[in-house]
Amino acid sequence: MDRLGPEDYQSNRHIRKLLRLAQTSKRDIFYDLGCGLGQLCVVAVTEFGVKKAVGIEMHRGRADKAAEHVRELGLSDRVEIWNEDYMESDLHEATVVYCGHNEAEEDVSHFGGELSRGSRFVSLFLPFVGVVPSGADYPFYVMDVPFRRTRDASLWVSKVLSRPASVEELYQELDTDREYRYDKRVFKKLMSARFGDDS
Ligand SMILES: C[S@@+](CC[C@H](N)C(=O)[O-])C[C@H]1O[C@@H](n2cnc3c(N)ncnc32)[C@H](O)[C@@H]1O
Repeated sequence: MDRLGPEDYQSNRHIRKLLRLAQTSKRDIFYDLGCGLGQLCVVAVTEFGVKKAVGIEMHRGRADKAAEHVRELGLSDRVEIWNEDYMESDLHEATVVYCGHNEAEEDVSHFGGELSRGSRFVSLFLPFVGVVPSGADYPFYVMDVPFRRTRDASLWVSKVLSRPASVEELYQELDTDREYRYDKRVFKKLMSARFGDDS
């Protein structure tokens, strides 16, 4: 179960914040990668009026519960729950995507290739390392597809912290950030791979 992460769900207030950050509207198709009980999809449909929402959940029990919840609310015509690994899912239809997991090495190339031009990807705590976000409302960042990549560590860090800052200052802020729950060792490896000596 560790590999799937804890059952840690966003509150409705955070869900609204992240959907607002991506300027989600009735023109959008929303995907939640790792949807748990499907609440993001429910809010996307009922409050933001998206055409369709897809929640992808690898854990069979959670996916079943999510699908049942959606049925009870009478939303099955607009919310789909897929019980599969989102790294193997077809995402081409998505226009707004949320994933609250820490970045894995392949994510930038995988999602950059999988997602359609003009779509928006919302991440939690940090944007992908080396991808310049188009907006932020902490703890969320939004990145436009195609991803705008940079090898300039100072530029990237200034977007992350919303102020000019050094990489060292970013590490210090993460050390004292009570909300940040990603593995810092993985993050530092990505920093070194993307920014080299500047990391
Ligand atoms: C912490 S829950 C978050 C639920 C919801 N997105 C939220 O933010 O409230 C994350 C879910 O992602 C699922 N998950 C982890 N890796 C996955 C993968 N590769 N494919 C599909 N689901 C995955 C876990 O089983 C877990 O239920």
